Order: sequence, then structure tokens, then C-alpha cells
Amino acid sequence: MHLGEPADAGSHVVCRYRVTTDLPIEKAAEALAAEQSTGTWTGISTLDDSVFRRYGAKITSIEGDMVEIAYPEEDFSIEVGGVPQILSVIAGNLFGLESLRGVRLEDASFPPGIMKKYKGPRFGAGGLREILRRPEKPLVGTIVKPKIGLSPKETAAYVYEAGAGGLTNSKDDETLVDQRFCPIEERTKAVAESLDRLSEEGHEMLHAINISTGGDRILDLAEDAASWGARQVMIDVMTCGFAAVQAVAESDRVKVPVHVHRTMHGAFTKDPLHGISMLPIAKLVRMCGGDALHIGTLGAGKMAGGSGDRSSLGACLGAGPHRAVMPVASGGVHPGIVGDIVAESGMDVQIQAGGGVAGHPGGVRKGAAAMIQAADAAFLGIPAAEYARTHPELQAALDRWGSR
Ligand code: 3PG
Repeated sequence: MHLGEPADAGSHVVCRYRVTTDLPIEKAAEALAAEQSTGTWTGISTLDDSVFRRYGAKITSIEGDMVEIAYPEEDFSIEVGGVPQILSVIAGNLFGLESLRGVRLEDASFPPGIMKKYKGPRFGAGGLREILRRPEKPLVGTIVKPKIGLSPKETAAYVYEAGAGGLTNSKDDETLVDQRFCPIEERTKAVAESLDRLSEEGHEMLHAINISTGGDRILDLAEDAASWGARQVMIDVMTCGFAAVQAVAESDRVKVPVHVHRTMHGAFTKDPLHGISMLPIAKLVRMCGGDALHIGTLGAGKMAGGSGDRSSLGACLGAGPHRAVMPVASGGVHPGIVGDIVAESGMDVQIQAGGGVAGHPGGVRKGAAAMIQAADAAFLGIPAAEYARTHPELQAALDRWGSR
């Protein structure tokens, strides 16, 4: 036991775990540290003191149910391995240990030696703002709805209407990739035409094409999508893996921003006593080069609560060796809660609404206009209800969904 030894953040990966156990917490922490580094369930003749001292994970503090463990940098792969190997160490077998009733990885900090192996976002929050020529106000987007069922032509028409209403961003939803009713090549080309048309009319817009697929195909698909005219791609990080995001973000064959969706994250993040919080997930996405990341709706919307929204804001935008990631507030968003989101996030955020645009009584273009007006009101510091008096699209949205 090395309880109380300070963690040398310069040469260790330092993790914080919330532990629920029937054992004395020191014993449970010891089991966790052993399992994830040099030990196992019993003493072993092959482990000598020098191996333990050099490679064994050390318990550096226990405060209540929070256990801090420092893993020596040498426990991590040199070149190959990457995030999959990191996760096998800091978030691997421990979740199944019988001695723990629950364990939640709350945070992980990585030393410079590991951080420098990752390039981070190619564009990041600042790069997206440059592409969209929107230096100050929040980016405002939509998710094409219904999430499945529209044809490529209908998808492209939706995107055009959203852009004509003023939105800066749109995207495929997480379950749409290459279904028969909407093949990815046809969709990407049709959407590219809409974006070109908007551009000719003086409005820059990005649409993220969902390229989530198997690891053996994702780079090729990203390259194909870019050649068909995709200006941004989207990857479902929890289902495809962090390595997929990294492969696409770092590839010289594909130089478009990567929008990162976190579908399935609730399986890890929702239980306050077991799983993985959004904070380490957001940190790893930034290391792997995601340019924009869904972080929930900061206390509002259908996915609110329990997913570490606020802490992942810091992980996206805080100081670090890598470019900042654009945090994406998404899930049950409508114009009536845009002010609340901006109050939490500040202006560096992409706010996007699917139902909150497509469900507008006046249709997609007016729904888009209402979202933009709500963001303008927040930018100007004017309550949405007041701004709506001179902006009928916003008024119609507030009449339908209310405001807080
Ligand atoms: C997302 O990708 O975040 C969701 O599909 C959002 O859809 P909604 O705005 O209709 O809730």
C-alpha cells in the first residue's frame, strides 16, 4: 500500500474512481490497483518487489468514497496500443471486480509524455468558426429529422431550408449511415449541392455526414465521403471507438472536421456509482482529434442530467496542449432553452436542435430562423420572450414549446 504518496503528475496517469464496496475501502482500492497493474486475485511468485515498485499502480489518496490511483507512465504502450490500451488499464477489468459493488471512473489526467503522442483536433472550435465565418456568436445547427426515412433528395432539401433560415450547421443523425432508402454516396452528393448553393448565396454551412462503420473501413469511407463533397464527417465514438476518431482526424487522406456523437454513452455515464463519467470521455476525444463533441444540454433538454455536461465543457475548452473542441449542446433543444444553454456555456458552443427545428409550426426554414433568433437574443443578453416580440418565428416557437 502506498497510500498518501503524492502522485507525480509528470510521469503518471492519475485517475479518480468513486468506489462502492462492502470491504474496508483501502482493501477495495488495493484490489483495484493490483488488478489494473501488476497484481491479481492472489499473491504470485513471479512478482518481485522491483517489478511492483516500478510498474505497480499506487493508491495516492482516499477521501470518502473517492480513490485516486496513479499508474506509472511505463504501464502504457509506447507506439501502438493507443487509447484502447489506455482504457484497458484505467477502465478495464476493474468494472467486474467482485470486491467492488460499484466503481465509476470520474476523471483521468495524462502526463506530457502521453499527451504529446496525440495530435488533438486539426480544426477545433476556432477552426470551425473560421470555416463558418462566425467569430463570436454560438454556432447553431440542426439534426435532420426524422432521423431515418428521408431520401437523399429530401435530406438535401432539409439542409438547404435550414441554411436558408440561417443555421450554420446540420448533420446526419446517429442511426443513419448507408441505408437503402438513403445511400451515403447519393446523400453526400445531394447535400453538397445544397451547401454549394447556400455558399453561392453568401451563407457558409457545414453538414456532418455520418461515416460510423467498422474499423477496417472507416478511413476509406471518410476519404470517399470527402471525395463526394462532404465538408464534415461524423463518428459515433462509443460504438466505433476512440481509435476510429483518431484514425480519421489524423489522416492526411481526409482533411475535413470530425463531429463526434456520443450515442450509447448513457450506458457508462448515467449511473452515478458505476461506469465512466463524461469528463474522461471528453478528454480522450480531444486527444484523439474530435473537432466537435456532444456534451448534452447543460441542464436543459431531453438528455439533461447525470452525464457530467458541465465538466466536459471544461475538457473541451480548457487550457491544454491541443486545440479546443467545440462543445455541442444537443438533445431536446428548442429555441426556448437556448438562453439557458448559453448562460451555462458562454458563446463557445454549437447549439443544435432536431425536433426543435423540424417541429416548428412554420416548417424547417422558420424553425431554423427561430433558433438563430434565440441565439441572437442570448448573444445580445435579451430575454427570448422580449426578443420574440419583433421576431415572429421565435414567437411561434415559444408559443409551441414555451421558454424558461
Ligand atoms: C442528437 O443527435 O443529439 C439527437 O438526435 C437530437 O435530436 P432532437 O434535437 O430532436 O432531440
